[in-house]
Formats: sequence, structure tokens, C-alpha cells
Amino acid sequence: MSNQEEINIRRLSGNIGTEITGVSVSDDLTNAAFDTLRRAFNDHSVLVFRNQNLNPEELVSFSRRFGPLERHVLKQFSHPDNPDVFLISNVREKGKPVGAIRAGQYWHSDCSYMAKPTMASVLHALEVPSTGGDTMFTSMAAAYDELSESMKALLSGLRAVHDYTNAWDVFFSRVADRPPLSEEERAKVPPVEHPLVRTHPDTGRKVLFVNPGFTRHIAGLSESESRALLGFLFAHAQQPHFIYRHRWTPGDLVMWDNRATWHLAIADYDMNERRHFHRTSIAGDAPY
Ligand code: SIN
Repeated sequence: MSNQEEINIRRLSGNIGTEITGVSVSDDLTNAAFDTLRRAFNDHSVLVFRNQNLNPEELVSFSRRFGPLERHVLKQFSHPDNPDVFLISNVREKGKPVGAIRAGQYWHSDCSYMAKPTMASVLHALEVPSTGGDTMFTSMAAAYDELSESMKALLSGLRAVHDYTNAWDVFFSRVADRPPLSEEERAKVPPVEHPLVRTHPDTGRKVLFVNPGFTRHIAGLSESESRALLGFLFAHAQQPHFIYRHRWTPGDLVMWDNRATWHLAIADYDMNERRHFHRTSIAGDAPY
């Protein structure tokens, strides 16, 4: 049993991320302990827990405390014994990748291309390369706050189109090991439109809700207007003071709020070294 009294919270950077100690997430968390974690999650957007020894069922049951889980469109990368666990991995068996290889090597928020984008993702590191393979997170709430009032007024009321296949146009088409989506997969993820600025349902904060991986264009603007405005917003959100960079150790469990952040997996490691993670996805609501 993990109690609220044992939980310590240490901020990891000025705008995003906190490390939680005194909790073993596979324990039965008391309601008070869980409330402390939920508050920290809403306040800091990224929670880091070290030394978590978890099997897939324990990862799923911890994740479910935050809400119902959803499954990824790439079904072939589900954990063979537990379809709620998605494998992010560069490991190959019989020549085939066992998990989503090169997942998230571009800034994005998970599944923003769905009508109800993923609320939170929980990533558990099992094997990590000896050097590199960090993940960066940026605060889209802090990025919004820092815009001028005139820019906020310009953005208010705009909507943007998100499309999973955009990730192939901007990234996957340059790498050999990620085939395009099948017709059946593509049919499950048609482009969707979301407000460009969303309101975080738990904190009430305004958040910039466009990302380089999945946002195709801003509705109602010309191609060049949309490209220029998205280009500015993408560069703005990548400033170092909005970012926390996580260096992985096996046993780390990191969860993030896709309603308020982007993340990027840095592809700077030796692909012959194993990087093997389990991920769960907690379902979200339609942005407003
Ligand atoms: C992802 O969920 O986008 C993958 C993150 C990572 O592998 O670090």
C-alpha cells in the first residue's frame, strides 16, 4: 500500500515535469495517494517514477486508475498477452519488428488525429540503449501563455486539421522500416478537425493544440498562410525553456498529458542496441 504521506514531488524543470518518489505504482494506491498523483499530473503534465518493476497487467491496472484505456490502430504491435499494452521497440524477431519502430521521432501529441485524442500515455522502459534515446516533452500550456495578446486573439476560433498520414509525409517516408498504413488502418483514422487552442478540461488552462507530426493545416487559411502560422507556432513551442528532457533508465515509468504537451523520441542511439518499452493509452475527450 502506498500512502499519501510517503509521496514526494520534485520539479524537473521550470515549466514541465515532476519526479515522484515514495510510490510503487504496482501497489494498491489509497484514494488520497492517487489524488496526489492526479493533482501533480494536472499541475506538471509529466510524471516520472523511477525503479518500477511492473508486469503488463500491473501497468494496465495502474493506468486504468486514470480512466478507460484505448488501443492503437497498429494492432500488430500490441503485447501478445495483453492487447491494452502497445510495444514501442526497435527489437526484431525473425527479421520483423516486434513493436512500433521509430515511434514518435518527431514532435507530436499522441493520437491528436482522432476525434477524441488520447488523454494520457504511460511509458515503461524495459531495455534502453547505453547512450541516447532520450525523450523530450514540451509544455503547450506554457507555450500558449507566452504568446502576445494579439496572437492569442488571432488564434482564437481557428481550427486545424489533424491526420495520422501526415507523419509519413513529414517523417516516416524518409526511413526504410515503417511501411505506409494499410487501406483498413487508413479507414480507421480519417482526418479530423480540432480547435487550434483547446481548454484543458481539468485545469481550465488554454493550450496550443497543433503539432508537427499530425497537423496538416489550419482550416480556412490559404496553404501559405497556414504553413507560415504553423511554422511560427511549431518553432515557438520548441524553445528550451518549455522543455524537459528525460534520460531513460530501465524501470522508469513516465506518464504525460497529451492535452497539454508534445513529446519527441530522440533518434540518436545505435539501432543495434535494444530499446524496448511498454505503453498504455488512456482515452480522452473531444477537445473544446
Ligand atoms: C511515443 O509514444 O511517441 C514514443 C516515445 C518514446 O519512444 O520515447
